[in-house]
Amino acid sequence: MADTPLRLGVNIDHVATLRNARGGALPDPVRAAKLAEAAGADGITAHLREDRRHIRDEDITALMDQLAVPLNFEMAATEEMQAIALRHTPHAVCIVPEKREERTTEGGLDVAREENKLAHYIAPLRDAGCRVSIFIGADQKQIEAAHRIGAEVIELHTGAYCDAHAEGDFDTRDRELAALKEMSAFAHDLGLEVHAGHGLTYDTVQPIAAFPEVRELNIGHFLIGEAVFRGLDPAIAEMRRLMDAARS
Ligand code: PXP
Repeated sequence: MADTPLRLGVNIDHVATLRNARGGALPDPVRAAKLAEAAGADGITAHLREDRRHIRDEDITALMDQLAVPLNFEMAATEEMQAIALRHTPHAVCIVPEKREERTTEGGLDVAREENKLAHYIAPLRDAGCRVSIFIGADQKQIEAAHRIGAEVIELHTGAYCDAHAEGDFDTRDRELAALKEMSAFAHDLGLEVHAGHGLTYDTVQPIAAFPEVRELNIGHFLIGEAVFRGLDPAIAEMRRLMDAARS
């Protein structure tokens, strides 16, 4: 299993954040997505938030029209987003929790609490051919619930691990990493495809990339920031190199 390929999904939300800071059309997140694709991204991730603070509806339309690689459409479990997803039928839909006041997706979804509702919610998305992924913490109860509702994929939230690393709290970081490792194996044994993401950087990506059960990493904020200094292509190439090195 260790030699199964590890996909890199590049999240382009923060190109749209920069565009929206000025209210015009530049920089264009679709151009960034196409550059990321040319630089070796295996997929593009975009989160259409309820408040449209970064990605907008027309970005999703353009991404669907212009990308050759699959789109991973991140969204909250609302009726509005379900209708949009069913209109576009992207390759994958990743269901994330969303709070208006948060700066970014702070935690995983509480699938266990909303099991029935979510089972009904994702059924039409699956029927339409979208791979449904659920963004959750490294928590056995949540993974079991994601499996029961019929999700094919879980994405494990790596934010707490990355934050602890950035804060120099290495005990917490190592505990978070151990939980992510254990829960990747647990989810894989249940038959779920395992993805991971949030807050990953060159410093934190390799231990996660080394988990043989993880098939995809979704990385955005750091890569877009790094692109300011070295360009998007080299920023992505370096991430790819680190992922591949960790895998082998
Ligand atoms: N995966 C999911 C489900 C996310 O919500 C996000 C952030 O939008 C990411 C991955 C990427 O996180 P980051 O931008 O911190 O790399």
